[in-house]
Amino acid sequence: MELSERLKKIPPYLFVELDRLKNEKMKEGVDVIDLGIGDPDIPTPKEIIEVAKKALENSLYHRYPSNIGSFFFRKACANYMKKRFGISFDPESEIIALIGSKEGIAHFPIAFVNPGDIVLSPDPSYPVYHLSTIFNHGIPYYLPLTWENDFLPDFTKVPTNVLQKTKIIWINYPNNPTGAISKKDFFEEVIKLAKKYNWIVAHDAAYIEIYYEDPPLSIFEIDGAKDVAIEFHSLSKTFCMTGWRIGFAVGNSFLISALAKVKSNIDSGVFTAIQEAGAYALNNLEKIVPPLVNTFKKRRDFLAEELRKLGYQFKKPFATFYLWIKTPEGISSQQFCEKLLKITGLVVTPGIGFGKAGEGYFRIALTVDDQKLKEAVKRLSTLRL
Ligand code: MLT
Repeated sequence: MELSERLKKIPPYLFVELDRLKNEKMKEGVDVIDLGIGDPDIPTPKEIIEVAKKALENSLYHRYPSNIGSFFFRKACANYMKKRFGISFDPESEIIALIGSKEGIAHFPIAFVNPGDIVLSPDPSYPVYHLSTIFNHGIPYYLPLTWENDFLPDFTKVPTNVLQKTKIIWINYPNNPTGAISKKDFFEEVIKLAKKYNWIVAHDAAYIEIYYEDPPLSIFEIDGAKDVAIEFHSLSKTFCMTGWRIGFAVGNSFLISALAKVKSNIDSGVFTAIQEAGAYALNNLEKIVPPLVNTFKKRRDFLAEELRKLGYQFKKPFATFYLWIKTPEGISSQQFCEKLLKITGLVVTPGIGFGKAGEGYFRIALTVDDQKLKEAVKRLSTLRL
């Protein structure tokens, strides 16, 4: 049996590999603290679970769900977009339910990428942007996100012929893994370039509700964005619902209908009981989310202060539950993370796992409770490389 050429080009998924290493250590009896994957330890709020429990009893929901999502869920998404960003979307044609935003991000390029098409992908980034490009025989062109440029791409460094041949640009703010946020002028530049060069703008907004300062922008707050853009939203991080698999995409109706065509040929939609819980969550966001974000904020403040004392260099994030930290001099990110696990039992993510430009960094996810975070700091303080 032989793998397809495209699968041969794809490395094991970053977090599957990290999980493997972690399990190995746990089997050896090491008391592992997992600060790797961005998977909140906080349970999904009770009231969301109660809605889902009741919805389970609805026998109508035991049949196939609507492919694009039930109208009530799409309406809740539209209401959220209107209330939070002041932008109106038609639930019929401009919104689609997703089995988590990862699913939509992975499937979207099938609709638009032909072999040899260029897709602009930030580096470092969530691996799915460039992997879905490779799956579709597209060519990722990496946009380095540097400390010096506040982890925003610099388009003046991209050759004009690349800009001309680009089909899709992926952007992601608040940013995973760097924790950076976008200013309005950056989004404006992206939309301007997209119109000039005929790009599709795909914005991953998975962390848009995990913020500690000003509310982050939707790409649709930029004039004319609806002509060229699609935005991927996730309920995973916002409501601590990673296991439920629910998100949505919103934007230009042609882009949404193309994604709907791909998906209807691949999956059968999101379980309607989960959509009901998701709609409830979105409709009650202002009540549910602040205590969750407050927990992440306290963790961020504590860890930022402790890491500073230990001499680590990083920009304190205004959003997301990640800290993107420089590795000590003279050691690669991979070696650092392996040593950290071996010596201290701490799992963190090596920057190189997010792309070449991630070398020199590691990422900590604030996804353990205060006690474990304190213990993690204690272990870090004893680390001698
Ligand atoms: C992360 O930790 O960066 C991701 O959210 C994990 C994932 O979705 O695979």
